[in-house]
Amino acid sequence: MDAELWVGWLQRWDAQQQLHIPDREDRFGAIVEALAAFVGPSPRVLDLGSGPGSLSERVLRRLPDAEIVAIDADPVLLAIGRGALATRPQLHFLDADLRGGWTAELPLVPPLDAAVSTTALHWLGLSALVGFYAQLAAVLRPGGVLLNGDRLDFDHDQRRIGEVAQRIQPDWPPTQPGAEDWEAWWAAADQEPALAEAMDLRRRRGHEHPHENEAHTYEFHRAALIAAGFAEVGTVWQRLVNRVLVAIR
Ligand SMILES: C[S@@+](CC[C@H](N)C(=O)[O-])C[C@H]1O[C@@H](n2cnc3c(N)ncnc32)[C@H](O)[C@@H]1O
Repeated sequence: MDAELWVGWLQRWDAQQQLHIPDREDRFGAIVEALAAFVGPSPRVLDLGSGPGSLSERVLRRLPDAEIVAIDADPVLLAIGRGALATRPQLHFLDADLRGGWTAELPLVPPLDAAVSTTALHWLGLSALVGFYAQLAAVLRPGGVLLNGDRLDFDHDQRRIGEVAQRIQPDWPPTQPGAEDWEAWWAAADQEPALAEAMDLRRRRGHEHPHENEAHTYEFHRAALIAAGFAEVGTVWQRLVNRVLVAIR
């Protein structure tokens, strides 16, 4: 299949995600720099909820000796990533559900040095997240890190701070006229003949963004990580609720 076609879809994905997360590239940069600083130049890394591999690709640009397993359960995004990043032999895409027994399917033998993630772990329900962090702790080496860039709300006892943060957060909902948002991107992908089979599988799996409104607070993630056996949890980058959390195993 034509590499240009897949690269085009990856670029279109990045533009769509950038619309929803205006600080996305800054946040990627913070994750990649922290990764290098915590675990050195040639880590073995998991990209959790990788989509088509946007973050993995940026890690490999900065750390060409890294080896990465990009895990996702969306057949459409995996097809785009596998097609667009086929020239990266250190990048292995794995089709697996992070709520299941994904650690048994890893193509790299644990213990691993690090896990990175962006805009993905909020898809997991809070109860699933607790078990998920326990599984993650079991495959990271002592001293290994999780770097998670996502929307992490202020805590329940920080209500006024949270309200102000909500009011002043940049450009939400997106206002760029004519720009392709999440819904429009998926509608366009549905019209792409090369994605028809993957789109069909996605529908059969019922893999969609969750609709329930659970608050993913920083405090909840911190407590779940400590309970799972992580030794230290902190924030290495933040703009309002848009944060990069670090947890050291
Ligand atoms: C908004 S996308 C972000 C993708 C990518 N990290 C990025 O920043 O471009 C969220 C991703 O998480 C994945 N995801 C959500 N729940 C998942 C699960 N239970 N198992 C595996 N992947 C999941 C989705 O399929 C989707 O690719």
